[in-house]
Amino acid sequence: MEFSIKNDNPTKQHSACIVVGVFETRILSYAAKILDKNSNGYISSILKNGDMDGKLESTLLLYNVPNSKGNRVLLVGLGKKNEICDREYRSIIRSTFNKLHDTGASNASLYLIELSVKNRTLSWKISQTVIDAMEGIYRSDKLKSKRSNSKQKLQKITLSTTKKINTVSSNEALQYGLATADGMNIAKDLGNLPANICTPTYLAKLASKMAKKYKLKVTILTQENMEKLGMGSLLSVAQGSNEPAKLITLEYWGQNKKERPLVLVGKGVTFDTGGISLKPAASMDEMKYDMCGAASVFGTITAIAKLKLPINVVGIIPTTENMPGGKATKPGDIVTSMSGQTIEILNTDAEGRLILCDALTYAERYNPELVIDIATLTGACVVALGRVATGLLSNDNKLASELLSASEEAADRAWHLPLWSDYDEQLRSNFADMANIGGRDAGTITASCFLARFTKKYRWAHLDIAGTAWHSGSKKGATGRPVPLLTKFLMKRATKKISRKKA
Ligand code: BES
Ligand code: MN
Ligand code: ZN
Repeated sequence: MEFSIKNDNPTKQHSACIVVGVFETRILSYAAKILDKNSNGYISSILKNGDMDGKLESTLLLYNVPNSKGNRVLLVGLGKKNEICDREYRSIIRSTFNKLHDTGASNASLYLIELSVKNRTLSWKISQTVIDAMEGIYRSDKLKSKRSNSKQKLQKITLSTTKKINTVSSNEALQYGLATADGMNIAKDLGNLPANICTPTYLAKLASKMAKKYKLKVTILTQENMEKLGMGSLLSVAQGSNEPAKLITLEYWGQNKKERPLVLVGKGVTFDTGGISLKPAASMDEMKYDMCGAASVFGTITAIAKLKLPINVVGIIPTTENMPGGKATKPGDIVTSMSGQTIEILNTDAEGRLILCDALTYAERYNPELVIDIATLTGACVVALGRVATGLLSNDNKLASELLSASEEAADRAWHLPLWSDYDEQLRSNFADMANIGGRDAGTITASCFLARFTKKYRWAHLDIAGTAWHSGSKKGATGRPVPLLTKFLMKRATKKISRKKA
């Protein structure tokens, strides 16, 4: 799908479908009014008949609108005037694309970016429209022998407006939206792949392909390499599986190499059975999504490489299966991490932190400006925040607020949880430096306390995406989150740098 932005009058549009909004109750938006006048009141007469009253999520498709140059006019409900916030705007875009998808239209002109959305700029509306449009047409059907509706009819989308706009900043917003959507699609595709295809070796090969395509530096550490580095914690998770673990690093150097890089670490457990502490059978298939942290790193690095952001970013992906094989780690086993700290593994299902801790120690060699890890780490996070917000914990309050404002701008929700040392006691072990679990209480926080013991040398934040990385039930599928949050965070860092240079 191609997008462009155009300043034009709806009566002049030749597109297959012109999309204009209607507020509740039967109040025409500015663009709809122009079309109505041009058609001698045809649109308002139809509304008067009671076919549509402008409720959010409602649509009405019209053909042969008098004097219109377009083939179709799609009216979309906008809900109450003056009440359009992010959620409403995004739902308007989604209903529009659901409906457009069902028509035969190959192109469409949307008069929606000129609607006023509370606390949001034109640039936000442009990028969000692109992101939600791509979301609306995303299908994961590559593994079906017959693809439904195999050809995507909708090809060209024009974000139209009757108002004069700044073409430079609008175009930047468009590019930003496209890159974010592409990054999300990569994260979704990877997440949705089954674990018999998406193995650690598969991810390593993909990283090499990506490196070629976007001129990144890639390094793949084998189990032997990791043994030499002393990554006893990471390897203890891999030892129950026949698939060899890998540690993948992807380096994007968008500016002077002297500038310290921002490091993203993504949990890449390609399937989490729980190991010897085996998980129950119900919904275990969803544990193919336990590499969504890794997938978000792949997606985000693609997005920033496409945008050619002037920053340095290193992605580190520890990847393995967690299986209950004959050589698997047993509850009570004690291992030594790369940092030298010893860990009593009381539950082999708390494996994410075991692979992350060695990757976080490994991150030290990049002398990072900051480190962010992204992981489907705890079921407790789903209990605490549901499937709405990503859990955010950090050893640096400034970094946490920077991430929160990126999250707010990207409409990719996150919520700050405390990382007080009071919780740290829960990790006490009689036999090793720490246990890998902290009991039932505050599971998301104790998991973070565990990681915090390996991140003392730099500014660090942890994103627990257990509730936000995928949808369950009939909508089952990866969400592509938190690629929008991360891409926005990096984008803001890059623009700050540019403006600092100019000043
Ligand atoms: N990958 C899971 C976390 C998870 C569970 C994410 C369900 C999304 C949905 C993680 O490896 C895990 O099993 N965590 C355990 C930790 C516990 C044993 C301390 C959990 O949350 O139950
Ligand atoms: Mn687990
Ligand atoms: Zn897991």
